[in-house]
Amino acid sequence: MSNDMQPGCAIAVTSGKGGVGKTNISVNFALALSKLGKRVVLFDGDLALANAHILMGVNPARTVVDALNADLPLIDIAMEGPGGVKLISGGSGLEGMLNVSGPNRHKIIMAFNELARDVDHIVVDTAAGIDDNVIDFVNACNRVIVVVVGEPSAFIDAYACIKVLSQSGRMSHFDIVVNRARDDAHGRDVFKRFKGIVDRFLTANIYHVATIPEDDQINSSISRCEPVVLSYPGSKSARAIEGLAALISSPQATPANEDPEAIFARRSSVLDERRV
Ligand SMILES: Nc1ncnc2c1ncn2[C@@H]1O[C@H](COP(=O)(O)OP(=O)(O)OP(=O)(O)O)[C@@H](O)[C@H]1O
Ligand SMILES: [Mg+2]
Repeated sequence: MSNDMQPGCAIAVTSGKGGVGKTNISVNFALALSKLGKRVVLFDGDLALANAHILMGVNPARTVVDALNADLPLIDIAMEGPGGVKLISGGSGLEGMLNVSGPNRHKIIMAFNELARDVDHIVVDTAAGIDDNVIDFVNACNRVIVVVVGEPSAFIDAYACIKVLSQSGRMSHFDIVVNRARDDAHGRDVFKRFKGIVDRFLTANIYHVATIPEDDQINSSISRCEPVVLSYPGSKSARAIEGLAALISSPQATPANEDPEAIFARRSSVLDERRV
């Protein structure tokens, strides 16, 4: 349990669109929080196509599927990853997909409460899309980072994602990370255009929390199976992700949707609420 006996903050990383950088950002953001002295667990919520472990260069002996099958606490199958981050891997392929039923999602979400007692931050990498699996995991977190890139299709999918999440009535604050930007000015421009669309049709509050530049060292880090904040700590992408971690864990952080205690109390009803 944390020193102040408060449950930890849970942060989902989502996007609607696939392939925009969620897993890279989740892994490196978790590591950057750990570098700041936070106790961090990364949950790979992409149950069918789990790949956070590959980016981290580890081979988990057990996955969330083992925890579900044997009714084990999630922390029991967490493995120590690089940089002190604990990883809960998401299974893969058919085995993973078979386990995303409502009752199993409920079990996983309730297990976030056990985890939240032991760590400062739970980072949840989500799958592409806005299916029940993604929405329920995001709704079980008190913060959400939405990753966008400067392409119309990414705007449309991120917009749909924010729309569905804000319709739950529980989420009104969304942290936006612009990924693969040419530079900071381009990042600001992408955010401005995206905000224009959101403000026109939705009542959500969106905040530009980081611009991560297009960076070849991301691809080099993937080839090395060593996340960029560890393999190239001075690179522009690593510095941007470290800035994001510093912001989110600071008193100047953007507003969360709920306090950690409030989401702690509400997790049992996450699945029911969405169906209302
Ligand atoms: N800032 C960046 N600079 C350069 N390349 C990047 C950057 N961010 C992501 N990429 C590239 O995009 C690819 C996809 O990234 P990643 O797997 O993190 O996306 P994802 O959103 O998790 O995808 P999926 O929806 O399939 O889970 C990476 O393999 C990398 O090649
Ligand atoms: Mg991914």
